[in-house]
Amino acid sequence: MDYSIETLALDKQQTDCIIVGIYENQQLSTSANSIDKLNQDIITQLIERGDIKGKNAETLLINHLPSSSIKRILVVGLGEKEKITAKLYRKALFSAIKAVKAIKVKSATCALTDIEVKGQDTCWKTRQIIEVFNDAIYLFQDTKSIKDPEIELEKLIISASEESTSLVEMGLVQGTAIAKGMDLTKMLADLPGNYCTPTYLAEQATKVASNSNKMSIEVLEESDIEALGMGSFLSVSRGSRQPAKLIVLNYQGGAKDSKPIVLVGKGLTFDAGGISLKPGAGMDEMKYDMCGGATVIGTLQAAAEMNLAINVVGIIPSSENMPDGDANKPGDVVTSMAGLTIEILNTDAEGRLILCDALTYAKKFNPEVVIDLATLTGACLVALGRIPSGLLGNDDALCNDLLAASETACDSLWRLPIWEEYHELLKSNFADLANIGGRDAGTITAACFLSRFTEDYRWAHLDIAGTAWRSGGKNKGATGRPVPLLSQYLINRANG
Ligand code: BES
Ligand code: MN
Ligand code: ZN
Repeated sequence: MDYSIETLALDKQQTDCIIVGIYENQQLSTSANSIDKLNQDIITQLIERGDIKGKNAETLLINHLPSSSIKRILVVGLGEKEKITAKLYRKALFSAIKAVKAIKVKSATCALTDIEVKGQDTCWKTRQIIEVFNDAIYLFQDTKSIKDPEIELEKLIISASEESTSLVEMGLVQGTAIAKGMDLTKMLADLPGNYCTPTYLAEQATKVASNSNKMSIEVLEESDIEALGMGSFLSVSRGSRQPAKLIVLNYQGGAKDSKPIVLVGKGLTFDAGGISLKPGAGMDEMKYDMCGGATVIGTLQAAAEMNLAINVVGIIPSSENMPDGDANKPGDVVTSMAGLTIEILNTDAEGRLILCDALTYAKKFNPEVVIDLATLTGACLVALGRIPSGLLGNDDALCNDLLAASETACDSLWRLPIWEEYHELLKSNFADLANIGGRDAGTITAACFLSRFTEDYRWAHLDIAGTAWRSGGKNKGATGRPVPLLSQYLINRANG
């Protein structure tokens, strides 16, 4: 989709549909009012007739304006004027794009930049318009030979006033970068495991790096990984016919000597559970176990596109977790790069086994902070559902920065503790630590495990098992989260 800005009066624009907002109690927004006046009070008349009340997410299409140059007007309800929160604004945007999709037009102009949203500026509003619209028109058909009809909408014009132009322009740059990052992340996650292998993931990351002159990439092969002593990571991959890869992206937008933000993403391109095999029902969805890695790739692409003045390193340990004669067995003890030995009590707790070595490797970049992202535990879904990602970490300031970014990005997080007491659960009779902690507090014990490898730097862990994917049903597929959150965090860091 093509996104652009237009400052011309609404009735002078070349567009198939103009989207304007009205508030509850029949109050028109500035743009709705101007378009109403130009069209013999048509909106006011329809309000009086009772066709729309202005409740949040209501829509009314006026598709015939015989004495006007305007082809169609889509009126969107926002709710009470003083009470429009970020969430309500996004909800109204969702209903708007749903209505636009239904009428199958090729272009639309969105004039919802003039709506007052609590605590948010026009840059933020522009970004949300692009993110929500782009998310809604995403269609995955790469693996279909009989294609669904394409979505007609090709061009979204964002209406700006003279005064708001610079903020809308900034929002356009950020919004398109984040939306494209989400598209890439979703595409990689939706691609099945027989297409999206560790090798494929490395190729895609290479493509992203080659599109920016500030990004470089290094892909470490199994022999390199072995030479580094990553016995834990390699033990997971041993049961797979696909070679493991350690993908390292390096974006240098900041000063040479400024410490990088390191993002580490779990890149399990298929998680069958290994010898601790998962049940068959829903196992197909374990192709999304590489969403942490895909989020790192999408976020780095967005950072480069926004030309952020910071340094960011992305590390993606990528492999499959399969049952095999040579796979990890329950009870096996492996030695991590950090030297700690690990008793593998459940081969399905493999994410932490590949992440721990990547987290040790992260030290070599002298990181400012390290943030890892992983579809790590089903327990996170039990604890928090699919609304927030789980947040755990060893640094309050970093966690608070992430919470603030999540609020702005409407990509929510909820923090859980990793207190000393929980570490008890990972004790092993045969190794330095066990890879599982039993039934209780599964998300926390997973983070406790990782924390043993992150003691030398400021670190946060995001468990995205519940938020990176919509399960089952007709909406099954990747969400692109938490690309918006991480992009926002990087924007905040770049702005000091
Ligand atoms: N990739 C899974 C976690 C997961 C489960 C993500 C459901 C998304 C939806 C992870 O590798 C895993 O299997 N974790 C186990 C850990 C357990 C064996 C301690 C789990 O959550 O069941
Ligand atoms: Mn698993
Ligand atoms: Zn997994």
